[in-house]
Amino acid sequence: MWLSTRPIEHADAPVWLAQRCALWPGDEAGHRAEIDRFFAGDFPRGPWTVLVAEDTTHAVVGFVEVSIRPVAEGCVTHRVAYIEGWFVRPDARGHGVGRALIDAAAAWGTAQGCAEMASDADPANDASCAAHRAMGFEDVGLVRCFRRDLG
Ligand SMILES: CC(C)(COP(=O)(O)OP(=O)(O)OC[C@H]1O[C@@H](n2cnc3c(N)ncnc32)[C@H](O)[C@@H]1OP(=O)(O)O)[C@@H](O)C(=O)NCCC(=O)NCCS
Repeated sequence: MWLSTRPIEHADAPVWLAQRCALWPGDEAGHRAEIDRFFAGDFPRGPWTVLVAEDTTHAVVGFVEVSIRPVAEGCVTHRVAYIEGWFVRPDARGHGVGRALIDAAAAWGTAQGCAEMASDADPANDASCAAHRAMGFEDVGLVRCFRRDLG
């Protein structure tokens, strides 16, 4: 059902916002600000790319955000293509859109000189964990994250 993947364009901002809000609910204003900064070329960490999947009507049915991280759990290289966000519209799932997005992310990472790609998922998100494994990611373990204020 999907047609192709391509880099995001400014005209995709509303659908990217809607899909980001579906993936990470509760901070629409924050997403809007980050999207504005992305298109202004002022994203906090770079290089960073966003790739979208279009269906045959040219509707955007999913996106993947990819960065390059100097360190990633389980990786041995220091320029790792990192899946920061991966989303497919619920009605478009199970048709290979997610796979096409990860393939596009991998191609971008390879073009950036990366030899490894990494990602993370909520351990309770069984579908995401299964999809990662199906896409060739190996499970490199579970890390609990902590924070505290300083000062
Ligand atoms: C994870 C997600 C992006 C996958 O998108 P999708 O378009 O359904 O994925 P695909 O149809 O391309 O499937 C890719 C592979 O993952 C597997 N897979 C996908 N969903 C799965 C599920 N719920 N259970 C088990 N395997 C699954 C598929 O079988 C396929 O493997 P195959 O080609 O060997 O059969 C989509 O389910 C989604 O947006 N989920 C909600 C957001 C989310 O959890 N994102 C990840 C955050 S880390």
